[in-house]
Amino acid sequence: MANRQITEYTPDQTAPVGVFDSGVGGLTVVREIMRQIPDEKIVYFGDTARVPYGSKSRETVTRYSKQIIRFLQTRQVKAIVIACNTASAYADDLEQETELPLVGVVKPGARAAAAATLNGKIGVIGTEGTIGSRIYSRYIQELIPEAQVIGRACPLFVPLVEEGLLKDPVTDEIARRYLKELTGSGIDTLILGCTHYPLIRSTLGRIVGDKVTLVNPAYETALELKSLLQEEGLLNREPAKPGEDQYQFFVSDAVDKFRQFANSILQYGALAANRINIEEY
Ligand code: DGL
Repeated sequence: MANRQITEYTPDQTAPVGVFDSGVGGLTVVREIMRQIPDEKIVYFGDTARVPYGSKSRETVTRYSKQIIRFLQTRQVKAIVIACNTASAYADDLEQETELPLVGVVKPGARAAAAATLNGKIGVIGTEGTIGSRIYSRYIQELIPEAQVIGRACPLFVPLVEEGLLKDPVTDEIARRYLKELTGSGIDTLILGCTHYPLIRSTLGRIVGDKVTLVNPAYETALELKSLLQEEGLLNREPAKPGEDQYQFFVSDAVDKFRQFANSILQYGALAANRINIEEY
């Protein structure tokens, strides 16, 4: 239920970009946006109370995403980035929800993979939801109809990353098992189709070997956001003023845990993290 009223507003260049994810993983997308378009303000929402999305139904993830879109609009954002691959997999259900530009991570990732592959054999790893939706195959085959897209759900990667086991023999062993079939199938491109996977990129790269191109949708999404803002005349050309809250972070559960993780991946850390009740939106 949408309890909170969203007042109409006309976004301008200086308005922030809204970014959301099921939890902390979307910070890998935030990191790329900070690198590619450093003058942009960002309002981030991480649904830490309801994570994971990867094992939940389409209906539930879509309901959560709609609430978050409503919340971000109350912060008067000018565009919304769906940093979560699982929520992006169901983005077709969200288009009616806002008139703002909506950028998911799946399309840019699929486009980059289609551009990178030479033999048309592309692997995708992600949550059960993302892989089950076959959304990457759909977008890739719109570009290369004869492409062969092989998906593999890797549900244990998210908890391993969140436990900080980025360079650990346990992660290595699990990754070998998950990727065995993919490496044997002759893929030349692998999409890291989940927010957390760029953080174990070196482990994954070592296992699949240097003949396989790794595609990070987070990086591609930041580029796509930049060109979209440019096209819409919404790119911020004013550098942030000293002391300004350029980055604001909101979560639906414990702030401290979120801040700890954020500090390990963002140069700036999540200085201003606030807890909100997302069910009110
Ligand atoms: N953010 C999710 C994704 O990229 C991973 C974590 C989850 O399952 O919620 O699909």
